[in-house]
Amino acid sequence: MSAVPGGVTVVKCGGVVALDPAALCADVAALRGAGHQVVVVHGGSADIDRLAERLGVVTRHLTAPDGVTARFTDQAAIELLTMALAGVTKPRLVTALQSAGVPAIGLTGLDGGLLRARRKAVQRAVLDGRTVVVRDNHGGRLTGVDHRLLCALLADSYVPVVSPPALAEHGLPVNVDADRVAAAVAAALHASTVVFLTSVPGVLADPADRGSVLPVCPVAPAGPPPYTGRGIGLKLVAAREALAGGVRPPAVTARRRADPVRRAPRGPAAAEGPHPTAGRCAAPRWNAVTLCRVVTATGERALPA
Ligand SMILES: Nc1ncnc2c1ncn2[C@@H]1O[C@H](COP(=O)(O)OP(=O)(O)OP(=O)(O)O)[C@@H](O)[C@H]1O
Ligand SMILES: [Mg+2]
Repeated sequence: MSAVPGGVTVVKCGGVVALDPAALCADVAALRGAGHQVVVVHGGSADIDRLAERLGVVTRHLTAPDGVTARFTDQAAIELLTMALAGVTKPRLVTALQSAGVPAIGLTGLDGGLLRARRKAVQRAVLDGRTVVVRDNHGGRLTGVDHRLLCALLADSYVPVVSPPALAEHGLPVNVDADRVAAAVAAALHASTVVFLTSVPGVLADPADRGSVLPVCPVAPAGPPPYTGRGIGLKLVAAREALAGGVRPPAVTARRRADPVRRAPRGPAAAEGPHPTAGRCAAPRWNAVTLCRVVTATGERALPA
């Protein structure tokens, strides 16, 4: 892809950021003005839950044997989340970006086969302390990102606004985690940075205390992340995958009133580990040297004024 002065910035937004994206959009406009290419990746848990309530669809979360909790996607849930992400969250983000003067173009992973995945129809989960097998899962593991499509859009000055679902090998949509999509997109584009903007000020030592932001959150190269609660477990796994994919230590940080992306903390540039082959998802390449690489996580209070 063509070199640009600021490189590629990938921003993952979810939670309240996706509900009220004004500050994010102004920041994306400023980043583009400074010569950065930007890809926005979004989830939309709040919109999915709201739509589920309106339509009377019951949604469930399951905890995997490693403790990480994630949405269970049966047939009703995959339809619901596609409606919510493509029909509610993405139009809100695209129109807000357009209003900020940013030529945004919305894509789910289905469009152009942008995100490829392998369906995991059968899943193991822990229920009442017992590991059980759950079937009819329409979730999967990301296997590829079509970087050519993203590069073509970026080269034409568009800002792609990307979300699940992804296209599985059986030709149907599957849910993939939006944080992990951001990590895979960042690795596929050799992005200079990926920022996870979320509802809380950073990774919290105590999830009930917004003041307990960890300035740095060590994440081991394999195994369960240090926090496995709903929302944060997969975010830390995604941050680890971005790092393994050659992207500098990612920031998990809060929506801010101004400049949430440009003022996000930055780790040092990734020093070792070859970039994955462009267009393929990053296979983690950890070794003893990289064992204690960290995810930078800084909250509003810890940032300089
Ligand atoms: N230790 C923790 N540190 C930080 N957040 C935590 C922690 N444990 C649980 N959480 C929860 O994780 C949430 C963030 O994940 P969540 O999936 O809800 O949002 P998101 O990923 O930003 O948005 P979306 O899922 O819509 O893309 C926070 O709102 C917080 O309540
Ligand atoms: Mg989430």
